[in-house]
Amino acid sequence: MTAPADARARAAALREELERHEYAYYVLDAPTVPDAEYDRLFQALQALEDEFPDLISADSPTRRVGGQPAAELASVAHVVPMLSIRTETDTTEQGALTFDARVRRALGLDEAAAPITYAAELKFDGLAISLRYEYGTLVQAATRGDGSTGEDVTANVRTVRQIPLRLKGEAPPVLEVRGEIYMRRDEFERFNAAQEAAGQKIFVNPRNAAAGSLRQLDPSVTARRPLSFFAYGLGDVQGWAMPDSHSGILDALEAFGLPLCAHRCRAEGPLALARFHTEMAALRATLPFDIDGVVYKVDSLELQRELGFVSREPRWAVAHKYPAQEVATRLLGIDVQVGRTGAVTPVARLEPVFVGGVTVTNATLHNQGEIDRKDVRIGDWVVVRRAGDVIPEVVGPILERREGEPARFDLLESIGHQCPECGSHVTRGEDEAVARCTGGLFCPAQCKQAILHFASRRAVEIDGLGEQIVNQLVSGGVVRNPADLYDRERVNETLLAGLERMGEKSATNLVEAIDKSRDTSLARFIFGLGIRNVGETTAKDLARHFGRLPNFLAADEAALMAVPDVGPVVARSILDFLAEAHNREVIAALEQALRWPETEPAATPEPGVLTGKKLVLTGTLPTLSRDEATAMIEAAGGKVVGSVSKKTDYVVAGEDAGSKLEKAQQLGVSILDEDGLRRLLLPVTAVVPDGQGTLFGE
Ligand code: IVH
Repeated sequence: MTAPADARARAAALREELERHEYAYYVLDAPTVPDAEYDRLFQALQALEDEFPDLISADSPTRRVGGQPAAELASVAHVVPMLSIRTETDTTEQGALTFDARVRRALGLDEAAAPITYAAELKFDGLAISLRYEYGTLVQAATRGDGSTGEDVTANVRTVRQIPLRLKGEAPPVLEVRGEIYMRRDEFERFNAAQEAAGQKIFVNPRNAAAGSLRQLDPSVTARRPLSFFAYGLGDVQGWAMPDSHSGILDALEAFGLPLCAHRCRAEGPLALARFHTEMAALRATLPFDIDGVVYKVDSLELQRELGFVSREPRWAVAHKYPAQEVATRLLGIDVQVGRTGAVTPVARLEPVFVGGVTVTNATLHNQGEIDRKDVRIGDWVVVRRAGDVIPEVVGPILERREGEPARFDLLESIGHQCPECGSHVTRGEDEAVARCTGGLFCPAQCKQAILHFASRRAVEIDGLGEQIVNQLVSGGVVRNPADLYDRERVNETLLAGLERMGEKSATNLVEAIDKSRDTSLARFIFGLGIRNVGETTAKDLARHFGRLPNFLAADEAALMAVPDVGPVVARSILDFLAEAHNREVIAALEQALRWPETEPAATPEPGVLTGKKLVLTGTLPTLSRDEATAMIEAAGGKVVGSVSKKTDYVVAGEDAGSKLEKAQQLGVSILDEDGLRRLLLPVTAVVPDGQGTLFGE
């Protein structure tokens, strides 16, 4: 039935009122009505739309969550590429002066010329997103991807309450808003606690949690994640009399009802930038979200156009980061953890200390060699460093504060050469850095980790099989190896009978996810076995080379070494693994349970700039995650390998790069930073905007 005019008018009025309340609540953080009143209006609109379905429109407040889970995220080509910004290497105040000097030089300004006006903002530590509004309605949201092509996450982004489905005021035909999706720290803590209680994946930091939440196939999952958004620029724009400055654009975006961070200002000249850098550093710990620095942008769009771009980075903007944060605390003890491959790792137990926005209680000590080299002893005051999103680490002891002569720590001695998990013997090879438990899958720690690894996203991917559930399944003796997961009698009954703290719905979902994982690929399967030294790339190579599982299982050392990039160490690991009768049994059982295409589709890489080249990634890159960098390299025909040798073509090094960088220097292998990698991949020397008013902000 078509809605009568009065119902149409009522729906429009309700929407308008709901939008106003949502804006006040989510963007201004200043609620205008009690929740109950909001709910009442919402239900009234819902009732009207139920009665007259022709009233439903995509931008209605009732339509935030809806639609079916997608099979995969579609690609979106960015009309205006999503570029990155250069990082100023000098993290002191001087960095601001260097940037200003560079800008002035590029503009040919001498000392007498007036100071440049900049827009200063925070550098939010989330992930970039592009929101396309057409005539004020949100029509598409896309991730950055490689900058040219991203993923369509529209359905997911629609669930983010801070993002308006409709802009306020007179919106132009096309307005692409660029900004950052992030998770607030308090929301992150709460979310992680809930995940842990439900036996679901725990995230290491708010950024990963935000990224994982946004890339869900099922928007109803994203809807339950507490995501936030800040706008910071523009992409494609059509039919808009645009302001002539970046700060003017930001003000306009704010007027359109988009959330903008209040910590931004116009700054005259370099000293004002430096002041902003210092002030925000002082504020950083108290901000409710993570930042990793500040961003400076030349305010005038005319000057931006004049400055242009160098290799996909604007000359008019820079990210000025903060140095890694270090604090002192007490080393209370050293615990040991047993990993998937049986590696027995020392973990520092610390007196809780607040660093880089989180409370740190543990930090890795890597291995015995590191403990010896750093000479850290229990009871010492130690320096703990947390750089960006990396796991905190113990830098070293503060020797002046050492009391007496505490004993040196010996990992093997501390556990009596026995695995704390299963009691098996722990050994450390002559020239091995790492001590290992010999218990194999008999060791519950290794067994749990092996199952988690097998179920992980890059292996056969069993959604929802988290640590807690695996703990319960293994400790309860239901599952002893990955193959047991597919034993319906065993698992389904236990799951559906209800594990502790597991709802009926999630149990059914998990059973379904296990079933779904039966369809996989040989490469994922091989990777999922968790053979030492066989990472994702090697697993892909093996699958491609052998095509079928029996061929792989029958391979001897020579056959394995015929696979590109498989050397004696990898071959030895594979043969050792396959020599274990127990592993063979698990493989045979999995072969029954899983399906993959008869032969692995041979990859026919398009020749790219990196075809045939081997690259090693080390350290934390300023903007790219490991996965992103790997994807970019592979897309260009290159290959990411784990260790540096003379055959390595490039080492891409980021912050805190360690021994791999040293080795590259010794061997004379070419070293690149992220900028260098990008330049290599995109030999576009300059992307100069055409001045037609479509390439600003980003
Ligand atoms: S502007 C051409 N502004 O940093 C300029 N980016 O490399 C494009 N980011 O992942 C970006 N806060 O998502 C800009 N205030 C800010 C930002 C910001 C965080 C992120 C961005 C991208 C990276 C840029």
